[in-house]
Amino acid sequence: MIMGTTSKTRRTEAEVTSFQASPELSASLQQVLVDLIELHLQGKQAHWNVVGTNFRDLHLQLDEIVDAAREGSDTIAERMRALDAVPDGRSDTVVATTTLPEFPAYERNTGEVVDLMTTRLYAAVGTMRAARGRADDEDPITADILHQLIEGLEKQAWLLKAENWKV
Ligand SMILES: [Fe+2]
Repeated sequence: MIMGTTSKTRRTEAEVTSFQASPELSASLQQVLVDLIELHLQGKQAHWNVVGTNFRDLHLQLDEIVDAAREGSDTIAERMRALDAVPDGRSDTVVATTTLPEFPAYERNTGEVVDLMTTRLYAAVGTMRAARGRADDEDPITADILHQLIEGLEKQAWLLKAENWKV
C-alpha cells in the first residue's frame, strides 16, 4: 500500500499568490499605453502627409516608428493584463490623457516632420522613463520590458533627428 508523503516544501493552495500591479504602477503603464497609441496615430499622419526632399526615406522610416509604437502598445497592454490591471485604449481616453503635443494638420515638409516626430518620440520616451523608474522598485520584470521599448524608441529618435543635423 502506497502511503501519502509528508512534504515540508509544498505550498498550500492558499499560500499561492500572484503579483498584481499597484494602482500607481497601473496608472504609469496606462500613461505609457496612451502615449504609444498616440505616437502610432501621429506617425501614420506624418507618413501620409510628409512631402519634399528625401520623401521616400522618411515616408518609410515613419512606418518603422509606427510599427515600434504599435507593437509597444500591445506589449504594455498585455503586461498590464498579466498583472491584473485593465488597459484603456479607447480613442476618447487617448485624446483626454496623452502627453504628446498635438500633431498639425495638412501636408508638412520633411524637415518639419523630422522635428515634429523627434519631439513626440521623446515625449513618449519621457513617460516611459518615468514609468520605468516606478517599476524598478515594484516590479523589475516590467522595468525590463520598458527598458527594451525605451531603447528601441530612443534609437528611432536618433535615426530621425540625424536627418536634420548639419556638419
Ligand atoms: Fe503606408
